[in-house]
Amino acid sequence: MSAPRGQFSSNFGFLMAAAGSAVGLGNIWGFPTNVAANGGAAFVVVYLVLAFLLAYPVLMAELSIGRYARSNMVKALRSISPGPVSRGVGTLAGFGGILVASLILSFYAIVAGWMVAHLADPFANLVGATETASWLTGDSTARNFTFTAIFSGLTMLIIASGVEKGIERWSTLLMPALLILLLLLIMYVLAQPGAVKGLEAYLIPDFSKLSPQLLLSAMGQAFFSLSLGVGTMLIYGSYLSKQESLPRLGALVTLIDVGIAFTAGLLILPAMYVAQEAGTQIYSEAGDLIAGPGLILQVLPALFDSMGTSGLFVAIAFFALMTIASLTSSISMLEVPVAFCIESLKLKRKPATLLMGALIFVISTVIIFNFEALFGLVISAATEYGQPLLGVALCVFAGWIWRRDQLLVELQEGHPGIENTLFWKVWPWYVRIVCPLLILAAFAQTVL
Ligand code: PHE
Repeated sequence: MSAPRGQFSSNFGFLMAAAGSAVGLGNIWGFPTNVAANGGAAFVVVYLVLAFLLAYPVLMAELSIGRYARSNMVKALRSISPGPVSRGVGTLAGFGGILVASLILSFYAIVAGWMVAHLADPFANLVGATETASWLTGDSTARNFTFTAIFSGLTMLIIASGVEKGIERWSTLLMPALLILLLLLIMYVLAQPGAVKGLEAYLIPDFSKLSPQLLLSAMGQAFFSLSLGVGTMLIYGSYLSKQESLPRLGALVTLIDVGIAFTAGLLILPAMYVAQEAGTQIYSEAGDLIAGPGLILQVLPALFDSMGTSGLFVAIAFFALMTIASLTSSISMLEVPVAFCIESLKLKRKPATLLMGALIFVISTVIIFNFEALFGLVISAATEYGQPLLGVALCVFAGWIWRRDQLLVELQEGHPGIENTLFWKVWPWYVRIVCPLLILAAFAQTVL
């Protein structure tokens, strides 16, 4: 007899875990910088529409397949396949999901390592260890290696403790902490000179910036942010009780994800203009707002430095926020390959975590030592190609391959009366036709 499968103890536990997966660097870093680069509120509007009209339906496909099959992505896609060909494709897509989840974790752990190093920096400064402090915020391979190792170790510790005692417990603890930190930081930053300009840049739409490219960035952002395509939501769904309503929980996760991304914009954009007021350069030579690592690792630290001692505490709060957001996401990525090892290779949870965690750390190490060549490449392979294509595969499995009556029964579980909802009337054909076509259309633009 194999050990019983893990399960979330409550729908709140699931909600925190799934929202924890969704809310990450993508929300607090990616979303606000995308907004800044793409016409402020114009991007926000497009993003909101895409999150609910495209990402939410795909999220529902993952959650329902996962809860129905009660297994990892490979097994799940096989179990809803009626014949050998679809089973073969399912195996391929399932392994694709595990691979892409692992690749995302391999670069995510590096970035999250920067967050941990920057969190340690103010402490080093407080005790007067200035040399250590400059090592922590410098950009050395040794620093990257050390902090990727620390962050990967933390991720592994949580995953080794299992679904309820690891994922659920830590997510329910960390997500409220994240919200509190975020709100405190917003209140602080909005009270500083220059903040209003940031709010303007964030909230006043410039519709002249609307373009196919913007649509594509918004779609990529929505997919990454909702952790779609790679089996994360599928495996979390597989730990969810049949008494819960999937459409309702899925909608809540989407709302929280979008809500926190939007709220993070109220912090990051004003903080940039406060930094400008304090003398920091916030526009690149080409005249665009600085985004990416330059924003989080240079502009904001310069702002914190200019604030004197109180800046140390603001820096601690900010990088604690980033670390927490990263951790509740990284555990969900590691769970994908680990669940596969447990269920399909019959390993115990601890050795499975050690094996997969170590393997992914090796990939991170290869990236760290070949940073220029690999970092951007892995990110774009995983998020621009892997996630959308796997998203299409999941829609095709939910919409075409899975027996319709089984899919409908799964949706009814935990949601009596669903037959009278708009969701019931629209989603089944929507996920079959509209979603794959929309994703492919947007995807075609990247390739062509
Ligand atoms: N959603 C996470 C973020 O916004 C990233 C993520 C992608 C997590 C894929 C799990 C799987 O940062």
